[in-house]
Amino acid sequence: MGMDQEKKIKRIDRAKDKSRVREKDSERLKVEENVFDVPTLKILYTLSNKGIIKAMGGAISTGKEANVFYAEGPDKELAVKIYRIASSTFKAMDAYIMKDPRFTNIRNNKRDIIFAWTRKEFQNLKRAKNAGVRVPEPVIAEKNILIMEFMGEKERPYPLLKNTYLEDDEAKLIFDTVVEYMRLLYKKANLVHADLSEYNILIDPKDLTPIFIDMGQSVTLEHPNSREFLYRDVQNILRFFSRYGIKDKPEELLKKIQAE
Ligand SMILES: Nc1ncnc2c1ncn2[C@@H]1O[C@H](COP(=O)(O)OP(=O)(O)O)[C@@H](O)[C@H]1O
Ligand SMILES: [Mg+2]
Repeated sequence: MGMDQEKKIKRIDRAKDKSRVREKDSERLKVEENVFDVPTLKILYTLSNKGIIKAMGGAISTGKEANVFYAEGPDKELAVKIYRIASSTFKAMDAYIMKDPRFTNIRNNKRDIIFAWTRKEFQNLKRAKNAGVRVPEPVIAEKNILIMEFMGEKERPYPLLKNTYLEDDEAKLIFDTVVEYMRLLYKKANLVHADLSEYNILIDPKDLTPIFIDMGQSVTLEHPNSREFLYRDVQNILRFFSRYGIKDKPEELLKKIQAE
């Protein structure tokens, strides 16, 4: 057998070994293979060995940059948000991360940016929670995986604000709480959500309280574009609630949010 032939066989064997590992792990975790690369599977496996995840469940959402899965924790339901490393829109992340003083010394490559983004979402959720804003409680951030409290019941996530049927008076109640949460975020957490809309607010049907989610792009007030992001959030919220007869002016709302 010639050298070339031998090399070729070795290469094929290596490829086969790799795919076997993937098959084995994905089987154990009962997840779809194409969503998870081997490093992601390894982190999930470690998290399950540590008892943080008891069992992975089905997909809740497939977004532009991340997939969200249901999981069972040791004592409560969990949501597992997994940022895809091969995500094509990470350029946008760059702009949010690079100007954030908390993340000035990360290396400028895709993986590092995604890992920093995941840590940032964890920290933002924590700060929001501490400020009294209802958000999923973050559990752990590991590389590209964020584990948090599942906002829902019996494997069913709460509906998005966008998909909730509301009477005008119910909408007004929710609107007031959304504005109060924006104020708490701004004043107590020093944060602007920066992607706030009916797509990133869940509604707890039991008491109609809003729940802010998706805080990877949230920025501190020191971020050079924080005012612009806040104004955009305000406009999104007013646009959505205008259909329920709420006609506040953006400037009035800004004043309320920035009030003591
Ligand atoms: N903690 C959670 N509990 C329940 N459902 C969640 C949770 N986090 C996210 N989801 C669901 O997953 C979807 C996508 O999550 P999100 O954080 O908004 O990611 P994306 O960046 O893809 O928009 C949400 O619209 C929501 O339905
Ligand atoms: Mg979202």
